[in-house]
Amino acid sequence: MCGIIGYIGHRRASEVLLHGLSQVEYRGYDSAGMVVSSGHGMRLIKDKGKLRDIHAKHNFLQLEGGIGLGHTRWATHGEPCERNSHPHSDCLGKVAVVHNGIIENHRVLKEELVGKGHRFTSDTDTEVVAHLVEEGLKSGADAPAAVKKAVARLEGTYALGILIAGENRLFLARRHAPLIIGRGKKDEMFFASDIPALLGYTRDFILLNEGDIAQLDSRGAIIWGADGKEAVRPPLHVNWTPQMAQKDGHDYFMIKEILEQPLTLASAVSADVTGGVKLLKSAKYPAIVACGTSYYAALVMQFLLHKAGRPASAYIGSEYASWRMRGEDLVVAISQSGETADTLTAVRLAKEDGAKVLAITNVVGSTLSREADATIYIGVGPEVGVVATKTFTGQLAVIYKLVYTMNGNKAGLEELAAMPSHMQKMLDEVQGQVKQLAALMAKRKNFFFISRGAGWPCALEAALKLKEITYLHAEAYAAGELKHGPISMLEDKVPVIAIAPSGPLAAKMESNIRECKARGASMIVLSDDKSLLQEGEYALSMPAVSEDLVPLFYILPMQLLAYYMTLELGRDPDQPRNLAKSVTVE
Ligand code: M6R
Repeated sequence: MCGIIGYIGHRRASEVLLHGLSQVEYRGYDSAGMVVSSGHGMRLIKDKGKLRDIHAKHNFLQLEGGIGLGHTRWATHGEPCERNSHPHSDCLGKVAVVHNGIIENHRVLKEELVGKGHRFTSDTDTEVVAHLVEEGLKSGADAPAAVKKAVARLEGTYALGILIAGENRLFLARRHAPLIIGRGKKDEMFFASDIPALLGYTRDFILLNEGDIAQLDSRGAIIWGADGKEAVRPPLHVNWTPQMAQKDGHDYFMIKEILEQPLTLASAVSADVTGGVKLLKSAKYPAIVACGTSYYAALVMQFLLHKAGRPASAYIGSEYASWRMRGEDLVVAISQSGETADTLTAVRLAKEDGAKVLAITNVVGSTLSREADATIYIGVGPEVGVVATKTFTGQLAVIYKLVYTMNGNKAGLEELAAMPSHMQKMLDEVQGQVKQLAALMAKRKNFFFISRGAGWPCALEAALKLKEITYLHAEAYAAGELKHGPISMLEDKVPVIAIAPSGPLAAKMESNIRECKARGASMIVLSDDKSLLQEGEYALSMPAVSEDLVPLFYILPMQLLAYYMTLELGRDPDQPRNLAKSVTVE
C-alpha cells in the first residue's frame, strides 16, 4: 500500500525523499508527493502518476530544506488525482500529513471539523488528521500535545508522518500499519514504511509498537507508548545491503528475482526451524492462514501435514473469521511482508481464542513477526518486484524443512538440500524455451492451468502470476474438476497448461489432457514423463522430482512464462496496475 518516508538532518531533504520514494515504488502506487520545510516555510509538490513523471513535471529537487515527508499513494478514498495525493494540509498550510491505512471514523471527524469552520480540499480520509492537529495548535497545545490529541481521536489503521511549519522536528504514529525509524550515522534521522526505502542511508532501525507516537529531531527519537508514557523500543540491525535491492544489470527486478532463486533457496533451506517444529509438534489442530501467493504456500503445507497424518486447515486470511473452527491451538501465518492486514486480523482472532502463533515471513521486525510466539525467516533478501517469486519458493522451502524435520523425514530433507543445484540446472535448460513459448502465447486471451495433488497449488500460483502482470484471463483447476463445468469454455486454440509430473497421478492427468485436446485446446505440457510430453502441442521437459517438491520446481518456468509474456505485451512486470507489495488494508 502507500509508501512513506520522512527525513530530518543535514542533507537536502528532497534528495533523500526522492531516493527513498524510488525505493518504495515497488509497493505499487498511483500518485506521489512530498513536503519540505526550511527557514522560508513549508512547500509541497504532489500529483497523480509515476514518480519520475511528477519529478519531470514539477522538479521535487527545487524544494529546499532539511526536514520533509514523502509519500506514494495507493488510492482508497477518492480517485487518484492531484488534490487527493499526499501530503495533505490544514486550512493554514502549516500542518502536512502523509498516511498509510484507513481512518475509519473520518466522516464523523470531518463533520465535526467542518462545523468548526475547517475547509477541506480532498476526498481523502487522511485530511482530517491535518485539521485535527490544527485544532490542537489553535487551542494552545504545543506541537507534541497537538499531535497526541489528534491521534487519540483516530479509529482505524494508520502509519502517519506529520510535519508542522516552524518546528525543527517530525512526528510519526503507527497503528496496524508498518512504520520504522532509521538512525543515520551523524545528526540525521529517518522513518519509512519499510526497510528498503532507507538501505541507502542506514541499516540501523528502531521498531515501533502498535499505538506508538514518536518525535524525531536530527539527534534522535522520543517515543511515547500507547499508554502515553515515554518508552524505549528495541534497535534492529539488518544485514540487507542496498545492492540486494538493485537490478544487477537485469531489465527488471522480477527477472533478477526469478533467476536468483537457486541462491535464495539455498538460504531458505538453511533457515532455523527449531521454534516452529516445537510449536507444530505440540499443536493438536493447526490453522494455516495467508493471502494470495502465500495462501498457495499454505495449501502446500496443508498437503504435507495431511500426508503425514496430521490435521490442519489452510484458510484465506480474510475468510478465517467466517470459516474457523475456534478449536485451533496454533495458527501458522505465512506472509512475505509480514504486514498483510487480512492475515494479521486472522492471527489476532486466533490469539483471542487462545492459539499460539508461528510466523513464516521474509521481513525481520515486521508486525507479524512481533506478534508471533516464534518466527521462521525465509531469508531470501528484499523482494522488490510487486509479484511474489523468490518469496514463494522461500516459503515452500521452510515449509518442507519444518514438516520434514517434525516427521524425521531424512530422505525428504536430503532431497530438499539438493534442490538449489537442480533448480539452477533446470533454469539453464528451460529459460530459452519458455521465452519462445511466451512469444507464441502472448496473443492468446484465455489460459487454463491444470494439475493434481501437490501440483494443484502450483497451478493456482501459475495462473495468479500470469493474470497479475499480463492482465490476461487465467484460471487454475484441479484437473479432475474441468469436466464439472469449466470444460465448456474450451474451444479451438485455448491454451491449457498441464503441470503433469510422472508418478501415481500421471495416468489421470493423461486422461484430462486428452479431454482438453478433444475440445481443440492447445496443450502445453510440463512433465518428466516422455509419453505425457508427447501429448502436448508444446512440451517443456522437466527433471524428475518427488511429488511433494513439484510446486517448488514447476513454478519457475511458470514465473518465466508470465514474465516474458508481459514483456511481449509491452507491460511493466515490476509494477502491475492496481497492485501493492504489501496490502495493509482489509
Ligand atoms: O505479503 P504477503 O505474502 O502476506 O502478501 C500476500 C498477497 O498479497 C501476495 O501474495 C499477492 O497475492 C501478490 N500479488 C502475489 O504476487
